[in-house]
Amino acid sequence: MGDSIVSRIAELKRRKNAVILAHYYTTPDVQAVADFLGDSLALSVKARETDADIIVFAGVHFMAETAKVLCPDKKVLIPNPEAGCSLAASCDAAEFARFKAKYPSHKVVSYVNTSVGVKALTDICCTSSNALQVVESIPREQPIIFTPDRNLGAYIQKLTGRDNMVLWDGACHVHEEFSLEKILELRRSHPEARIVVHPECKAYIAAVADYVGSTAGILDYCGRSEAREFIVVTEAGILAEMQRRYPDKRFIPAPPVDSTCGCNECCYMKMVTLDNICAALENEAPEIILDEQVRTAAERSIVNMIKVK
Ligand code: 13P
Ligand code: SF4
Repeated sequence: MGDSIVSRIAELKRRKNAVILAHYYTTPDVQAVADFLGDSLALSVKARETDADIIVFAGVHFMAETAKVLCPDKKVLIPNPEAGCSLAASCDAAEFARFKAKYPSHKVVSYVNTSVGVKALTDICCTSSNALQVVESIPREQPIIFTPDRNLGAYIQKLTGRDNMVLWDGACHVHEEFSLEKILELRRSHPEARIVVHPECKAYIAAVADYVGSTAGILDYCGRSEAREFIVVTEAGILAEMQRRYPDKRFIPAPPVDSTCGCNECCYMKMVTLDNICAALENEAPEIILDEQVRTAAERSIVNMIKVK
């Protein structure tokens, strides 16, 4: 059954000139059928570069929307349109427009985990891979609104020492749930382990990290580091790629405050399955459709981000 659906997906991809882009947090079977696996930044760049006619986005809704913003002439399919993101949902576009109106002289920097409506109100987007470079590309005296992640915003504020950043009060329900106590307990039982943390985590978690960075940044660090063990403080789906790349190293997932709730997994990313990928390819639906005016405004903010080196 597993193999037959995998061959069916491969056959549909070939026949329809389709490509599957997948995020590191999807399940290992989904990652295995992807043509390209990456973090949010790499996936946006890849979407822009591909010459496929159809992009199947194995990830959450804002990621597929970002691909459509960048590739208006391609068909962008989202295997499960219910796959949202608690962080993107924490910033409603109409509410954000009212907030922005209070700070007319500020530039808006938005993390890509936002709806297309928020991106349309944004001067420049960023991801956790390039947030520091994006903020540093803006003259120091220019005040900034940073949305929607208060933790990433506070982390960048600390790195840059900028006191002219207003932060939107949003967060990711997965990354906010990690327990400092349990991470330190793990470090006591694995004293040689390095702690790697995604910047969506709270400041007191980032404070004990040996490395803070995006999913791609964490993967690179684990390869570069001489350490053999890592305590991984981000969504647990990334462990599949870590183990695949570095089979001789040991990766220990950090537990959430309440380990009975499975909160170190993003329920939205797990909504993408081989079945719904196959159905999306067969039906060429569900498709991301955007209002052209909103799309054009959003595109500017993403292109501004891609231009930052
Ligand atoms: P990355 O940009 O690090 O891949 O993160 C995306 C995300 O949704 C993290 O929760
Ligand atoms: Fe959104 Fe959090 Fe899931 Fe990332 S882990 S997609 S920020 S809900």
